[in-house]
Amino acid sequence: MPATLFCSRRLPEAALTLAQGRATVTMAPEDRHLAPAELARHLATAEGLVCLLTDTVDDTLLAAAPRLRVIANVAVGFNNVDVAAATRRGVVVTNTPGVLTETTADFTWALLLAAARRVAEADAFTRAGQFKEWGLLLLLGGDVFGKTLGILGLGRIGLAVARRAHGFGMRILYHDAIRDPRAERELGVIYQDKDTVLREADFVTLHLPLLSETRHYIGGPELRAMKRTAYLVNAARGPIVDEAALVHALQEGWIAGAGLDVYEDEPRVHPGLLACRNAVLAPHIASASVETRHLMARIAVQNALAVLEGRRPANPVNPEVLERLSRPASAR
Ligand code: GLV
Repeated sequence: MPATLFCSRRLPEAALTLAQGRATVTMAPEDRHLAPAELARHLATAEGLVCLLTDTVDDTLLAAAPRLRVIANVAVGFNNVDVAAATRRGVVVTNTPGVLTETTADFTWALLLAAARRVAEADAFTRAGQFKEWGLLLLLGGDVFGKTLGILGLGRIGLAVARRAHGFGMRILYHDAIRDPRAERELGVIYQDKDTVLREADFVTLHLPLLSETRHYIGGPELRAMKRTAYLVNAARGPIVDEAALVHALQEGWIAGAGLDVYEDEPRVHPGLLACRNAVLAPHIASASVETRHLMARIAVQNALAVLEGRRPANPVNPEVLERLSRPASAR
């Protein structure tokens, strides 16, 4: 009997085709976010789950999914999954790292450039018929070339952002819990403490995972430490930034502007941010290129199938579960 795989949302056809003849795939009749109780109902018999970062997979849900063996998140971030609870229950969690690195780095730069050069404001201005004549002082922004970039979190995406900064002749500072001598040698990135990065950077860009230690990593004191001419870019996770403090900083001119793809309480966007013209706002689309989103879905399905077929998935987040499962039942 093929294993049962539940997909919480519609996936591209090519990803679903991978499961043909290998698993019985079901999905909710409508392509919309499922409330926890609905998701629990669908998981009552499922052995595999392919889910999105908008699905909260906590211990309560896991308790309602007694046959579940794998949670394949279609995202690199997995803060929506209680990995410790899944590990306790012997459920493998997988993500889709690597594939979205360059796409997300591209979008980080789109936000950075748009914020600095006021692209969204300029577009609205032009569409509103306000472009009556060329103006020497019209829509002035901040230069990017030759400035200092501050990267907080030098993982895969942070590194990809750093590589692009060379094209802009930038000095690159970074801070991370782990220092990266190879990146320092090969990319010329300079390690600094967090405070120095905040004080010296003209652009601060966040590439940290959301963990209890990184929640509100950027709050009032950090925003006050930044230059008044600096910009903040966040294409990582919303709760890394204290949004209320950011609104204050943007309104009061503590910083020049922000480029945001993520929010503290998605899909809600702080009303204060909506009113800030010096913020460029996107609806969590940093990895949303056709190629990358299709590949992410395929990788997630492949990860789920691997576990269901008793193989090691390419991207386990809690490999200790696989190690435990490989031991004889009496030794688990
Ligand atoms: C997107 O935010 C992801 O984590 O893949």
